[in-house]
Amino acid sequence: MEKGIFDNSTISRIGLGTWQLGLKGWGPDYNGDELVESLRIGIRNGLNFIDTAEVYGMGRSETLVGNALQEFDRKQYFVATKLAGFNSSSRMVRKRLTMSLRRLKLDYIDLYQVHWEPSIYTSIPELFRELENLADEGLINHIGVSNFSIKTIKKANESMKYRKVVSNQIKFNLVERPSHDLQEFMKMNDIKLIAWSPLAQGFLSGNYSHGNRPKGAVRRINRLFSEANFTRFAPLLEVMRYISEGRRMTPTQIALAYEKFLGVIPIPGFRTRKQVSEIVASNSISLSKSEIVSIENALEKCGTIETSVGLYPRLVPNFVARIGALLI
Ligand SMILES: NC(=O)c1ccc[n+]([C@@H]2O[C@H](COP(=O)([O-])OP(=O)(O)OC[C@H]3O[C@@H](n4cnc5c(N)ncnc54)[C@H](OP(=O)(O)O)[C@@H]3O)[C@@H](O)[C@H]2O)c1
Repeated sequence: MEKGIFDNSTISRIGLGTWQLGLKGWGPDYNGDELVESLRIGIRNGLNFIDTAEVYGMGRSETLVGNALQEFDRKQYFVATKLAGFNSSSRMVRKRLTMSLRRLKLDYIDLYQVHWEPSIYTSIPELFRELENLADEGLINHIGVSNFSIKTIKKANESMKYRKVVSNQIKFNLVERPSHDLQEFMKMNDIKLIAWSPLAQGFLSGNYSHGNRPKGAVRRINRLFSEANFTRFAPLLEVMRYISEGRRMTPTQIALAYEKFLGVIPIPGFRTRKQVSEIVASNSISLSKSEIVSIENALEKCGTIETSVGLYPRLVPNFVARIGALLI
């Protein structure tokens, strides 16, 4: 059993998410050159955990990440990519991994994650045994999952001879959390929580309100940005603003510092070099006890929204889901 790879001091405690490098769905303010340069700035300044996926811009994110990595030594970064749920079968995985490796210009992937639970027509044991074979061949260093339930993680682990799932990437931020049971199960089994949407897609930045919502399809359909939620979470946003002003930081930095305190690995997405510089700076911020207490008091008032795992329709066969993804 592999233990504690994320306790290894060579992997940064805050990573960088690169869905935005796929460009699709993020609106007109996102620019490929700016994103690649921003990513480079992050890596140069120690944020070496990079998350991408084959579905982000249908390969574009992996290609741009691969370009950005060219100036660094292989040991300087840790790349996590993801196999789409609709490509997750023992028959498809080798080909999809080879394509990701080619786009990223790498010989191996540090962490290969199954992006969401595969359809019910897929054999989980066969898929994870094949992932184990690929790891034995040196093409993958660690096997992870994303948006997986306890039941499916157990099934995956039982399928492999001597490896275990090392991480589960789930939506996690101050206002949206997975169930207590899932978090406890992961702790007990040394499965690291990698937090996607750690900034609640900008909801926590203080830059938006119901009347001033972000552009782009991804966030237009995010129900978090509703009037009811801006009202519900106003006490929390106010506390974050208060702490950030007192310490000359931004609410975004407070959110990341708090998640780091909780022991999860946030992988914020970004749009500009300035934002990445702020994320870099948040890596060395520690919140005081009283700041943590005031955040937690506000959270007690507002409550949190439970993140659902098993997000995707598992009854849809892979080939139908694949065609659907091309049409979106
Ligand atoms: N496994 C999965 O199913 C899954 C799903 C979603 C995402 N992910 C991964 O998780 C990563 C992060 O999630 P996400 O992109 O959904 O949301 P996020 O990280 O919560 O939010 C990213 C957005 O926050 C804003 N932002 C970033 N830095 C900022 C700063 N310093 N100050 C103010 N605003 C700032 C930017 O938007 P604006 O500047 O435009 O406001 C940016 O696009 C993704 O890139 C991807 O790698 C995984």
